Amino acid sequence: MDGIQKARELLARARSIVALTGAGISAESGIPTFRGPGGMWRQWRPEDLATPAAFARDPRLVWEWYDWRRGLIARATPNAGHRALVDLENGREKFTLVTQNVDGLHDLAGSRNTVKLHGDIWRMRCTECRAEWTDRRVPLPELPPRCRCGAMARPAIVWFGESLPDGAMEQAEQAACRADVLLVIGTSAVVYPAAGLVPYAVESGAQVIEINTEPSLPGGEVAYALKGPAGEILPRLLG
Ligand code: OAD
Repeated sequence: MDGIQKARELLARARSIVALTGAGISAESGIPTFRGPGGMWRQWRPEDLATPAAFARDPRLVWEWYDWRRGLIARATPNAGHRALVDLENGREKFTLVTQNVDGLHDLAGSRNTVKLHGDIWRMRCTECRAEWTDRRVPLPELPPRCRCGAMARPAIVWFGESLPDGAMEQAEQAACRADVLLVIGTSAVVYPAAGLVPYAVESGAQVIEINTEPSLPGGEVAYALKGPAGEILPRLLG
């Protein structure tokens, strides 16, 4: 019996499932990852584009990068991996999707019980009055965009050195500590606190199934490491 079949049986028996996703699940939709081959952090430095200091130094540069990414994401559609997670959720009472992605493709595919750890690229936040709103215009007509109060807006995304949205990690941990199975899909699992969900779930008794073109979780944490693209492996896990 191969790893996929065993993992499929584990998943079929599970009563409570959490899936943690990262940029790799959207790679097959044409959105570059951060650290893999062709990854954005191989081309640019996060400290120039994704920190509060970078934004304070050059908000226009940061916004140009986000506007470019918004353009890429606007043209992308969910792939078989995103759709398989919707099918998994539809067949279960207890399913939580925890994503580090800001692209909204899980929403577009139809996932419902979702925790977004790193925010949402379509959401804006005022740097002064803190108002938040959705703006899907691509490209944005003015960079940096402005709030109705006149102050500059920023992407409602978590940058390096910032806290996660209120309650997001708590919600993810609550789901992880009662999960029988944690699926870890398309993430290098090096960015904390998101990455901490894996050992947390293991300590709470969950079995981990990793799906990645280059599985990298420590052997002791993983029950099944399935090597391959999420868009191919995930449908096979359910089929
Ligand atoms: P990474 O770019 O660090 O990792 C992507 C992972 O996906 C790698 O382990 C790849 O091997 C794997 N991968 C690539 N293509 C795949 C495919 N088709 N199927 C399955 N796996 C594939 O992305 P994240 O782990 O999501 O933070 O990065 C975490 C955070 O770092 C991001 O949320 C972002 C970034 O800085 C913020 O935006 C705050």
